[in-house]
Amino acid sequence: MFELRQDELHSAFGDPVLGSIGFLNEIMSRYPDAISFAPGAPHLTFLDNFDVARHIDTWIDHQVTQRKLSREQARRLLYEYGPSRGLINELVADALRRDHGIDAGPDAVVVTVGAQEAMLLTLHALCAGPGDLLAVVDPCFVGMRGAARLLNVNVVSVDETEDGVDIDGLRTQCRAARSRGERIRALYVSPDYSNPSGSLTSLGARRRLLALADQEDLLLLEDGAYGFTAPPGEEIPPLKALDTEGRVVHLGTFAKVCLPGTRVGYVVADQLIRTSDGGRRLLADELAVSKSMVTVNTSPICQAVVGGMLLEHGGSLKALAQRKSELYRRNLALLLDALDRHLSPEPGQPQAVSWSRPAGGFFVRMRLPVPADAALLETAASDHGVLWTPMSQFYESGKGENELRLSCSYLEPDRIEEGVARLAVFLRKEVGSGRPSGTRTAPPCR
Ligand SMILES: Cc1ncc(COP(=O)(O)O)c(C=O)c1O
Repeated sequence: MFELRQDELHSAFGDPVLGSIGFLNEIMSRYPDAISFAPGAPHLTFLDNFDVARHIDTWIDHQVTQRKLSREQARRLLYEYGPSRGLINELVADALRRDHGIDAGPDAVVVTVGAQEAMLLTLHALCAGPGDLLAVVDPCFVGMRGAARLLNVNVVSVDETEDGVDIDGLRTQCRAARSRGERIRALYVSPDYSNPSGSLTSLGARRRLLALADQEDLLLLEDGAYGFTAPPGEEIPPLKALDTEGRVVHLGTFAKVCLPGTRVGYVVADQLIRTSDGGRRLLADELAVSKSMVTVNTSPICQAVVGGMLLEHGGSLKALAQRKSELYRRNLALLLDALDRHLSPEPGQPQAVSWSRPAGGFFVRMRLPVPADAALLETAASDHGVLWTPMSQFYESGKGENELRLSCSYLEPDRIEEGVARLAVFLRKEVGSGRPSGTRTAPPCR
């Protein structure tokens, strides 16, 4: 049998960042009865009564009434290849304007196969040469680091502060890159309850980041995946809504506000490009061209499902996301409450483990006094029936070895309670948390 050698394939294979999702799936499949705080999966309640046919019909009706197509013509749009740019661009652009103050026309939107494809296409377009670097916040969503690895884009990491990216650190990195003859072309940033750390970037820090992008001549690739989970009244405008200079490319996904299985995302790229013949195009035009060589177009059927769902909520992303946002915040509150009850130390005793207290998003970050590595995870799964995600895989710099990520988006309240009870027993036994003496302590966690 003919065999291929791994060292003759792309060097990304074998990189742990590409294997991180597989690693978690593998351990979850070996311990099906464990309560897993690992995946940021949707809650099952949103899968019940998910009426694909009705959503598609809603979208078809809209084509008939708004675009004056016959029913047959509208249906054919679903069954054929479609424009690379997408079919629901206008709906997406309108919703982004109305709900988030992002003022970009449908021609600046490309509908992609998840936010993942949007990341890949954008990086591919922007990082043209070996000296074009991507900066990421440490820790960072593996999807972006994996895309960079596939495209041979070199990555530099910038620390995270209480208020998102360390802006002074980013400035230093930009200057250091220039002195080496390289440039930081873009920073990937997830300002709303980021995955994995759950951090939130304040309005002031968003404005400072935009100013820095202008001063240091870089783009901001903003991932808005978890913005919909902000508590009412605490929403902060996306970077793209604050962007007066065209510095922000906004990446979005319907994975959390509809369902991941739709595989529909989008990119808003309204940057003007001067072409060699003196013409002008949008970055979105170029992304649509490259998309035509990657996935050709995003499934029209899936776009119609998402479009129909949007239309059934008055074309509003906020209305579409409202029930999900409420349920995910409820779960987060239950998780934080259970952690307080099960893991707070006795009065006068040191805090052995610490954890973050995000107001939204899917993720709580916990810090242990010992490495939260694969061996410890195996013990948690086999001896205590509880799973979590080691954070070190999210760090570019190799830090985070004592941290783990807890996610509770898809769990029922009683499973959250039981899972935290198991976690507490595990931590007491294996880590020493909560013991009256000999307790090792972890530094505080944001
Ligand atoms: C930060 C972030 N961006 C985007 C996504 C979703 O990407 P996609 O639309 O490709 O499913 C996720 C999903 O986990 C995420 O955590």
